[in-house]
Amino acid sequence: MAVSRTFSIIKPDATRRNLTGKVNAVIEDAGLRIVAQKRVRLSEAQAKTFYEVHKDRPFYGELVSQMTAEPVVVQVLEGENAVVRYREVMGSTNPKDAAEGTIRKLFALSIGENSVHGSDSPENATIEIAQFFSDGDIVG
Ligand code: CMP
Repeated sequence: MAVSRTFSIIKPDATRRNLTGKVNAVIEDAGLRIVAQKRVRLSEAQAKTFYEVHKDRPFYGELVSQMTAEPVVVQVLEGENAVVRYREVMGSTNPKDAAEGTIRKLFALSIGENSVHGSDSPENATIEIAQFFSDGDIVG
């Protein structure tokens, strides 16, 4: 399996509780490498663009306001089959359904405040990475 990349966000519910290091430890223990990372405050425009696919869902407004309320940590993760691997490491969107040992089982508060985001396909990983990082920012 070839080495590939995915995009990750450590969300405000986790940064607020000072969990960046604990989330990163789960990521690294799972064999993924953090090859780019920065802490940023998303603007409303950035959050709306990022989650545009959900714009007709009832939770869209709350999602945008939660994602802009406090800082996030955006990351590029690298490893074998990175998109699928990180989705396993995150666990189910709803922490009630998340497997033991996953980030969401360990740390998430609710389906909305679920601590992390990860790309759902390699194509979306490329698009999402490009929203926050240029090639020179990513050092593998
Ligand atoms: P994420 O992987 O970032 O993608 C969309 C986000 O919407 C999701 O994680 C959740 O944080 C949030 N969300 C809130 N309510 C729901 C819901 N009912 N179904 C799916 N996602 C939801």
